[in-house]
Amino acid sequence: MTTVGIVGVGGMGKTHARHWSKMPDVTLRAFDIDQPRLAEFSKEFGAESAQSFDALLETCDAIDICLPTHLHLEHALRAIESQRPTICEKPLCLSVSECAAIVESVERHGTTFMTAQVVRYFPEFKRANKLIKDGAVGTPAAIRTRRGGAAPKGSGGWFADPALSGGVIVDLMIHDFDWIRWTFGEVVRVYAQALTFTDVEDIDYSLATLTLDSGAVAHVEGTWADPGGFRVTFEVAGSEGIIEHDSRSSPALRTVKAGGAWNENPLSPSDDPYFLELKAFLESARTGSHPPVTAVDGLKAVAIAEAAIQSVKTGKAVKPSGA
Ligand SMILES: NC(=O)c1ccc[n+]([C@@H]2O[C@H](COP(=O)([O-])OP(=O)(O)OC[C@H]3O[C@@H](n4cnc5c(N)ncnc54)[C@H](O)[C@@H]3O)[C@@H](O)[C@H]2O)c1
Repeated sequence: MTTVGIVGVGGMGKTHARHWSKMPDVTLRAFDIDQPRLAEFSKEFGAESAQSFDALLETCDAIDICLPTHLHLEHALRAIESQRPTICEKPLCLSVSECAAIVESVERHGTTFMTAQVVRYFPEFKRANKLIKDGAVGTPAAIRTRRGGAAPKGSGGWFADPALSGGVIVDLMIHDFDWIRWTFGEVVRVYAQALTFTDVEDIDYSLATLTLDSGAVAHVEGTWADPGGFRVTFEVAGSEGIIEHDSRSSPALRTVKAGGAWNENPLSPSDDPYFLELKAFLESARTGSHPPVTAVDGLKAVAIAEAAIQSVKTGKAVKPSGA
């Protein structure tokens, strides 16, 4: 039996709890500064409430950080120093320097640490990653991703403040930055435009153009200005074919080559990406094996986001830190 301690029982804390609850060999504890919300959560998920984060650290085998992003650094460092295997929601932190402090602490203490970059577990993204790596489109050349919906609020409205959430670039587009790195390799140049730092109220939107080390080009679009509902699309064009995905279409994944086209809909209930992500973390926490998405992966995705922000502010193309 593994006792998992969730800190932050808002939107993501509940999503994680739903999936932890499906694992018969996990018991849940939780801490949140919002006492009524914590009490309600504990009742719903049969979790024991802790009185403080320190109490959670003392009484749990593993820690699951589901706090607003500006609080990740402090809590992650305390969990790592306590040598509790830890999973932390994306984005890992708000800046490369904060992420670097986590990477350094993970290395110093040898603590198992996973960044919750869940898109790697979404069936279409996972399958497309494999198809592309297996050469289904030949040499990838042009990538286009789009992700968005209405602006999230979060408890107290923290998502709307870029100083707390990083805005659409850091909070939302990070998903695609990570998937692009994982699938196509490192990003060496970023040029971006955005509404993030303008006076346009309640609308956040960005389009970033990434140049990959391979020479491929990716257009990554993120929006919190789409009240029509959440939608994700991607298209990858290579020397021998195209793969496309639209979260509103069925079948969800379509591969088109000169010799024909085929459709797939790889979704099934046991494919839930959050369940698979938490299960993978649990396996690493129990065995000490290398987690599938590391603190360094979290840092590298934030480095692309940070370069995009720098590009928005300067109007120039920017090389991501460490590229
Ligand atoms: N992977 C995904 O698909 C996905 C989706 C949404 C959000 N997220 C990420 O998950 C994280 C949490 O987002 P959310 O939507 O759950 O936010 P939220 O505002 O819904 O929940 C945050 C919770 O943290 C609690 N909290 C705040 N300060 C605290 C403190 N000092 N100690 C203990 N509890 C505290 C709040 O009371 C609240 O219950 C963010 O980093 C966000 O970017 C990831």
